[in-house]
Amino acid sequence: MTTLILSAHPHPDQSRANEALLTAAAPHATIVRLALEYPAGAIDAARAAARVLAHENLVLQFPLQWYAPPALLKDWFDAVLTRMVYIHGETEGRALAGRKLLVAVTAGAPEDAYRADGRNGFTLAQLLRPLEATARRCGLDWQPPFAVYDVREPTQEVLAAAGARYATALTALAEEGALAA
Ligand SMILES: Cc1cc2nc3c(=O)[nH]c(=O)nc-3n(C[C@H](O)[C@H](O)[C@H](O)COP(=O)(O)O)c2cc1C
Repeated sequence: MTTLILSAHPHPDQSRANEALLTAAAPHATIVRLALEYPAGAIDAARAAARVLAHENLVLQFPLQWYAPPALLKDWFDAVLTRMVYIHGETEGRALAGRKLLVAVTAGAPEDAYRADGRNGFTLAQLLRPLEATARRCGLDWQPPFAVYDVREPTQEVLAAAGARYATALTALAEEGALAA
């Protein structure tokens, strides 16, 4: 497995879109649901860092909540990226550099809401800038985000199509993402 997906849905048992994406992704990646991995909130940063470094590519998957990733993901950044980049920069941080980072987002609102002249007034790319800045600081290779819009009450067909698109994106990531030996 060359790709690690960190899924930051706060309630996996209530998810439809993110769980459909994870089902489609299963043959292509190692999947970690942060809410299940850290039910008490305590993140084992050393273990989490080792797991990141055991994979070539990193995918951060989440439902957009208040125009941002769920707090779980911020907690993971604060624990794991701080350890890797600031505390163990020479070993772990340096090893992080050059790996591909794909952000995979589901959003309740339709795509046309995410335009300068749309209902939300900002594009998804603009809203994801803090993540892009984090990737840049870590030396991660930022990929064009994968997005699924309008998934508040998705049909099975919509979920199946999104899953197929995700599987294709993950396959491309793995093919392009091979680190130089
Ligand atoms: C607390 C909360 C905040 C949300 N904020 C947004 C938002 O800012 N923009 C948006 O498009 N959808 C928003 N949504 C809708 C979710 O993004 C949407 O329900 C989710 O992506 C569906 O995925 P799921 O089936 O895996 O839960 C929000 C949902 C919740 C529960």
